[in-house]
Amino acid sequence: MESVQSIAERSCGSIPSCFVRPECERPGLAHDAFFQESFPVIDISGLGEGSERERAEIVRGIGAACKDWGFFHVTNHGVPLQLMDGMRRAAEIFFERPMCEKLQFSTPPGEMAAEGYANRMLTRDDQVLDWRDYLNHHALPIWRRNSSNWPHEQSYRQMIEDYSAQVLALSRQLLAAISESLGLGSKFIEDAIGEPFQNIVMNYYPPCPQPDLTLGLQSHSDFGAITLLMEDHVGGLQVRKNGRWFAVKPVPGAFIANLGDQVEVLSNGRYKSVEHRVVVNSTKKRMAIAAFYDPSKNTRISPAPELIDEQNPRLYGEVLFRDNVSDFYSKGPEGKRNLDSIAIIRQ
Ligand code: OGA
Ligand code: NI
Repeated sequence: MESVQSIAERSCGSIPSCFVRPECERPGLAHDAFFQESFPVIDISGLGEGSERERAEIVRGIGAACKDWGFFHVTNHGVPLQLMDGMRRAAEIFFERPMCEKLQFSTPPGEMAAEGYANRMLTRDDQVLDWRDYLNHHALPIWRRNSSNWPHEQSYRQMIEDYSAQVLALSRQLLAAISESLGLGSKFIEDAIGEPFQNIVMNYYPPCPQPDLTLGLQSHSDFGAITLLMEDHVGGLQVRKNGRWFAVKPVPGAFIANLGDQVEVLSNGRYKSVEHRVVVNSTKKRMAIAAFYDPSKNTRISPAPELIDEQNPRLYGEVLFRDNVSDFYSKGPEGKRNLDSIAIIRQ
């Protein structure tokens, strides 16, 4: 494997053709052409210990954000800022290591979403490549951890474990609020997903000499339930709404929460998983750490019966999560094609 980081270091002025996207997929909107109106920012400090009224207000805000965007910033989330800084620093130290050291953590070729250092996302060979390297950790359930593919320092491992637990708690808190905002019991989504499978992925986007021709991460929706993303100050994440792309301005100290495909199915389409991508730039590297909250591969997901009635016909068939995942990695996300395949077509 050759990392994008080393390709970036030796490329003088132009990128290899395997990174060049077809014209219709090129960014067209710079990494920092931030959307001036604000995206939803939700202060959740009142979710745990606030009064009934405060809590209801936050749940309403989260519901509105899920309906309008499928994504929102979360502030006052309770995850220690020191831990977030530690994670950021650890990612920086990892990606600054000499290449021969990083390559010791390489994932086996052709295996999808394996633990370790890689840059290809899909298993197919004819893909346009993303301008990104990443380090993936299978954080939960604990039996999935193969920490020989994690950097070996004890302090590093301890930090990933702490972060995993903190982000798990925050994900559950948000899923409870999202369930309530749909008029369902607070445990509805958590129970439907079952034991969470959590991956923590450190994304590294090197500066790119021709950022207009490529993407750091191709357009996709996340296939799990919810993702919590912690990004640096550079910017580059873009989300799609009604066919138009919007550049997200980083909010220091916040998490970005975005809904995945399984919440779209469970909510019978009331909430949509958000389509998003990453745009790179020519001068600054960018780092973002994503924590995914997924079901196990054997989990079957279907719309909540409470959300189906005459006015709201059932929109999706049952999904076996394994099929969703293997479709994503073998065929490619192509926006939200994954969900199209289980959508019930009505005449
Ligand atoms: C992802 C993702 C965004 C980013 O890893 O699924 O959308 O900014 N990441 O790295
Ligand atoms: Ni994503």
